[in-house]
Amino acid sequence: MKFFVDTADVKDIRELNDLGLLDGVTTNPSLILKAGRDIVEVTKEICSIVEGPVSAEVTATEYSAMMKEAAALSKIADNICIKLPLTLDGLKACKALTSDGHQTNVTLCFSANQALLAAKAGATFVSPFIGRLDDIAVDGMDLIREIRHIYDNYGYETEILAASVRTVNHVKEAALIGYETEILAASVRTVNHVKEAALIGADVVTAPPATLKALVKHPLTDKGLETFLADWAKTGQKIA
Ligand code: E4P
Repeated sequence: MKFFVDTADVKDIRELNDLGLLDGVTTNPSLILKAGRDIVEVTKEICSIVEGPVSAEVTATEYSAMMKEAAALSKIADNICIKLPLTLDGLKACKALTSDGHQTNVTLCFSANQALLAAKAGATFVSPFIGRLDDIAVDGMDLIREIRHIYDNYGYETEILAASVRTVNHVKEAALIGYETEILAASVRTVNHVKEAALIGADVVTAPPATLKALVKHPLTDKGLETFLADWAKTGQKIA
């Protein structure tokens, strides 16, 4: 499973990336507000830290304006993934951008039918929001389960007939683009959300830095290490 961090805080991103555990980053307008920085400037910095996809969200709500913003965002770096809302205009933009070779993340997904549309629009990622469903007493994890089931039913790997091929690189590029929509479990609040999403088979989880760091914690690990270190000290030995 891939781990994306859901933040625009470069300090946290750097720290997680240095651990070698980070596969990508997701941002949204609220996270940009929280970071208190210019969107282009901070996104550029994030893209220079992390090799994987960095989701940057459009804020326009109408197709042409979305496409204009997507063009500006995609210029920031090669690893930009354009994040679009799950609306009809967002889906139309997703289809156009994906067909044009861009990575896309369709966000604000709250139903299996919406996820079905995202896959049909060729989204690279679909982002079902677990926590926000839990907030209204609906089990967010059920949504992940439903989407996994539906995607597996149809093998959502839209087949592309790469035509007008002239070079071996055309073939490689067509293979690299692929059209498989991945399930990105978002709005994660707890370590149990991560575990359940992994058990169900979500492709990616995006979680706040504190949640990702908390994954390592277990009281028996701490206790065991304490005992090992105490016993080791008693041996009077040194390894190096
Ligand atoms: C996903 O990409 C969103 O940015 C994020 O996970 C939303 O999480 P929240 O519901 O905690 O704001």
